[in-house]
Amino acid sequence: MSSFWSIVVDIVILANMVGGYFLIRWVAKPVKGETKEGEPTGHVWDGDLTELNNPMPRWWLFMFYITIMFALSYVALYPALNNYSGLLGWTSAKEYQQEVDNANEKYGPIFSQFSKTPLEELSKDEHAQKVGQRLFVTYCAQCHASDAGGSRGFPNLTDNDWLWGGKASDIKQTIMHGRNATMPAWGSVLKPLQIGYVADYILSLSGREHKATDATRGKAIFANYCAACHTADATGNQAMGAPNLADRVWLYGASRNKIIESITHGRSGKMPPHKTFLGEDKVHVLAAYVYGLSKK
Ligand code: HEC
Ligand code: HEC
Repeated sequence: MSSFWSIVVDIVILANMVGGYFLIRWVAKPVKGETKEGEPTGHVWDGDLTELNNPMPRWWLFMFYITIMFALSYVALYPALNNYSGLLGWTSAKEYQQEVDNANEKYGPIFSQFSKTPLEELSKDEHAQKVGQRLFVTYCAQCHASDAGGSRGFPNLTDNDWLWGGKASDIKQTIMHGRNATMPAWGSVLKPLQIGYVADYILSLSGREHKATDATRGKAIFANYCAACHTADATGNQAMGAPNLADRVWLYGASRNKIIESITHGRSGKMPPHKTFLGEDKVHVLAAYVYGLSKK
């Protein structure tokens, strides 16, 4: 907002208060030519309800003056006007920081206690699991779903099938530092027919419907182009997040079309790092929570 409009708003605020004061003074004054105080004004309702000319009760008037005084002191104490920080020096940023400090003071000791407990042990601690679940719903659910069941492109964290390793320390490493998966696109290297063959080979590995002759052709292509990352038996390599292609768990979809899409265009799943954002103590609790999920 430009300062011109801020000044306009300031003037409107102050003029309202002054205007309010004079308005009250004005209506409280007797008007010339009016009937005397306590006398009927001549207005009659329902045949026998007569209006008398009485002033507003004093306490009622004072209420108005008090509200104006309240507004004036509020404007003086708090940063209500443009470029004026208020006598109290209050700011919303300070208030927020205060709340964060209070929360850290209150919960910090709990988290630092948790952080001294080994992950495996912490995963069995009911209190820690509850805290972990709340953190998960706040920071992780938008990608992994609130029950950690995942969705296409976002791995299920409850199934004990791991892209990057399922040891408690692997999981903590994943959350702390993030993970970047790179599956190259093969569309410009392999012909569509060849990609079809290798897809049939992959389907054959988990015992799904496939063309046997095509799968045999695909096996040779796989050995040449894919085994380096997915290993010769296609069971995957957790050091680089290359998934096991011989099981029934799929990150990007199990259908032949989705598999062909993965091979043709490549995939690059990114798990963001949380070390600086959440701090190690919270990550520790989260890692224990995620580790515990697949052990249930
Ligand atoms: C912006 C989306 C996003 C957010 C937020 C996110 N993740 Fe992830 N996470 C991913 C993706 C994508 C992957 C898979 C990366 C890949 O393709 O290898 C992943 C992978 C993981 C893995 C490894 C799974 C495996 O099979 O090895 C763990 C563990 C994990 N996330 C936990 C968490 C936790 C805990 C949080 C909350 C602090 C979180 N993630 C927040 C997107 C996200
Ligand atoms: C440089 C290493 C590398 C090579 C080479 C590679 N891949 Fe991958 N592949 C990956 C990684 C890493 C992922 C996981 C991508 C992600 O999580 O986003 C992946 C994912 C996939 C997927 C998806 C799996 C799922 O669960 O949805 C398929 C299918 C696949 N690769 C097939 C192949 C085939 C076929 C080849 C050979 C033509 C190949 N890959 C070569 C690293 C590689």
